[in-house]
Amino acid sequence: SEAATTVPAELSAPSEAAQENKEVTVLYGSQTGNSQQLAEEISRKLEDKAYHVTLASMHTYKPKNIKDVTNLLLIVSTHGEGEPPDNAIAFHEFLLGRKAPKLADLHFSVLALGDSSYEFFCQTGKELDQRLEELGGTRLYPRVDCDIDFDEDAAEWMAGVVAGLEKATGTSSASSTALLSPDTTATTYSRTNPYQAEILENINLNGRGSNKETRHLELSLEGSGFTFEPGDSVGIFPENDSDLADQLIAKMGWNGDESVPIGKQGDVLPLREALIRHFEITVLTKPLLEKASLLSKNNALKELVAAGNEQQLRAYLEGRDILDLVRDFAPWEGTAGDFTAILRKIPPRLYSIASSYRANEDEVHLTVGAVRYDAHGRKRAGVCSVQCAERKAPGETLPIFIQRNPNFRLPENGSTPILMVGPGTGVAPFRAFLEEREETGAEGPAWLFFGDQHFSTDFLYQTDWQRWMKEGVLTKMDVAFSRDQDEKVYVQHKMLEKADEVFQWLEDGAVLYICGDEKQMAKDVHKTLVSIIAQQGNRSEEEAEAYLSHLQQNNRYQRDVY
Ligand code: 2AM
Repeated sequence: SEAATTVPAELSAPSEAAQENKEVTVLYGSQTGNSQQLAEEISRKLEDKAYHVTLASMHTYKPKNIKDVTNLLLIVSTHGEGEPPDNAIAFHEFLLGRKAPKLADLHFSVLALGDSSYEFFCQTGKELDQRLEELGGTRLYPRVDCDIDFDEDAAEWMAGVVAGLEKATGTSSASSTALLSPDTTATTYSRTNPYQAEILENINLNGRGSNKETRHLELSLEGSGFTFEPGDSVGIFPENDSDLADQLIAKMGWNGDESVPIGKQGDVLPLREALIRHFEITVLTKPLLEKASLLSKNNALKELVAAGNEQQLRAYLEGRDILDLVRDFAPWEGTAGDFTAILRKIPPRLYSIASSYRANEDEVHLTVGAVRYDAHGRKRAGVCSVQCAERKAPGETLPIFIQRNPNFRLPENGSTPILMVGPGTGVAPFRAFLEEREETGAEGPAWLFFGDQHFSTDFLYQTDWQRWMKEGVLTKMDVAFSRDQDEKVYVQHKMLEKADEVFQWLEDGAVLYICGDEKQMAKDVHKTLVSIIAQQGNRSEEEAEAYLSHLQQNNRYQRDVY
């Protein structure tokens, strides 16, 4: 390639040993795309230092080949109750299994992504890290466990890994021009430099009398340089409710104008602004409570975080926020800055894109369900969704970036059948899929399962589906309105009713997509698929599971769940 001609002479013919040492394999396992982005970033950094990088998804990488690797970097997230992301399941299973090879010559390091509000924080990364050591590998750099505000910790890991590699390879390598493709993104905007997108449209999709409020947002991308594919998401950096920040300041007797440090770079913000824009104040986590117990003069908090009280601690975290914490465990010592130092940075919220870029070039559409509930005697509101619903009118802006999701993609061949399951806001990416298929003239069959509470008020995007049915872009649609009759009817019940056809579609090569609630819906739909395949395909439950794993391995069972 052209780039190869720019390799400096002294690097073009290294000794065999040195050459082997300069080989680095970077593998990522990612549900939302964060791990992949970080994997691409470290790969670019290493290429700049003349390393030869093999970058792959754990999904496409043959795990057996790991025995020939000298330097291995793993970046992996954790989901639900400590589970690996879908595209890391097979890799994780192989490595932890009995058939994993001995890895005495391996140098490795693991970057684990997770969310400390979950009990099994970074579990998959921890397991892989421990297992690589058991198999004989040596750490280039200790594992780093990142919380949802991962940017700074990930940057630290990358610096440590680069230094560790240079030590291991015994070469302080001269920088070189990138050997492989440079980052060719056509925009200067990103997660670390979000674009202020103007709101063009913000409407409630639910009718009067609905229990729900689902906002359809249209944002302008004009001048952003952003492009996206159906299946991608938008990240929004939300702002906390100023009332909540003010109550916190009042309760603690702080001064909202006082400067507090933010981040590790020595930046400061006035306290009130920092509480609204920079810190997460609506979620409690175990590490946060442990740190808070050092600032509280109330022994009850020390008792709660003491070893052995895990269950009470978990119960306390559920549905409470920082305002509950400061009320429940007063009095406090230390400055406002001491307190904010224990808070996480507010993370962006990801929303599956509901439009096609090809169909609406300078826009992106989102489907945002407003989250509101009562807990512990107070009204609670989802930070981003309720900000979108109540405090963001057309003409105002939202700081956004595009989050790629290569794990949720239309088939390249437009004639491949697609089977889509998306109750509630889970239907969003399927609106993008069908807009795209309409725009590109794809002729493959498409079947949508949609569900929500009531036909009359909650049939999201009803006229879009009707139009696409008429035009043949959508071939079949089944709906489950759960609360229009006495007994609950869900999407999986509709699938079961049409078990023979669902199975036939799968046998005919359909790609199956599930989007929406992870904890219940996606699990129940999975179980239903297992019974459909077992029943229709004359298989045992185990064989039906294997059928689905096989689909997943072949990118024919894709999930965007949250
Ligand atoms: P419900 O709220 O009446 O229980 C979108 O939120 C739709 O998904 C609603 O109709 C909701 O029904 C339904 N739903 C709730 N739990 C579900 C589950 N486990 N599987 C499938 N759909 C579910």
